[in-house]
Amino acid sequence: MPAITRTDPNIIITGTPGVGKTTHCQELAQKTGLHHLDINEVVKKHNIGESSNDPDDPNTKIVDEDRLLDCIENDLEEGGQIIDWHACDLFPPSMIDLVCVVRCDNQMLYDRLKQRGYGEKKLQENMDCEIMEVLLQEARDAYDEDMVVEMRSESTSDIDSNVERIEQWIQNWKKDHGKASEVEAQGQDGKRDEDDPMFLHG
Ligand SMILES: Nc1ncnc2c1ncn2[C@@H]1O[C@H](COP(=O)(O)OP(=O)(O)OP(=O)(O)O)[C@@H](O)[C@H]1O
Ligand SMILES: [Mg+2]
Repeated sequence: MPAITRTDPNIIITGTPGVGKTTHCQELAQKTGLHHLDINEVVKKHNIGESSNDPDDPNTKIVDEDRLLDCIENDLEEGGQIIDWHACDLFPPSMIDLVCVVRCDNQMLYDRLKQRGYGEKKLQENMDCEIMEVLLQEARDAYDEDMVVEMRSESTSDIDSNVERIEQWIQNWKKDHGKASEVEAQGQDGKRDEDDPMFLHG
């Protein structure tokens, strides 16, 4: 496998619509200075989404994944991307360092999606997706087991603790990928990945 040249990690924040991906990405980008790569924005900007034929759901876009990857290839090579998208297995594993699957209580998710005005069919499809753990399974199938972490997003304190956990993981990643002196200069402790609770309990 070729050596990693990026100096900041690429992190996917994925999960069923409404679980809290964007909320996490925004907070994490603000805290770390990494870039929030909102795939919805990329799709809009490059016009790479085709409207679905579903009359119940005309706003849903079918995304051309090859074109999407072309659009973000340079960003991924550069590193430091927090990828916000409700799918994850299209991103090449060699470009990805951590996959966070955001989860949410079913009733809470139902209420959030209902509040958005989702129709019954779309609401049920998304609820099934969460109940069947579709995104968690997709992440586990596509990436190494120790790269995939499940996180709950039900309260604001969940967001704080998840973001803190990811920040700690980023510090450790930088230490393990040649940024040790910079991290130590910032006064961080000397923990390594193996000591990281994310991997012990993720
Ligand atoms: N941990 C949380 N505590 C309280 N509210 C939350 C939490 N996580 C998400 N929410 C709320 O749930 C709603 C959906 O969150 P958000 O937009 O981040 O989800 P998303 O996964 O990005 O959805 P989509 O896939 O449709 O973009 C928002 O109103 C947000 O404020
Ligand atoms: Mg979002």
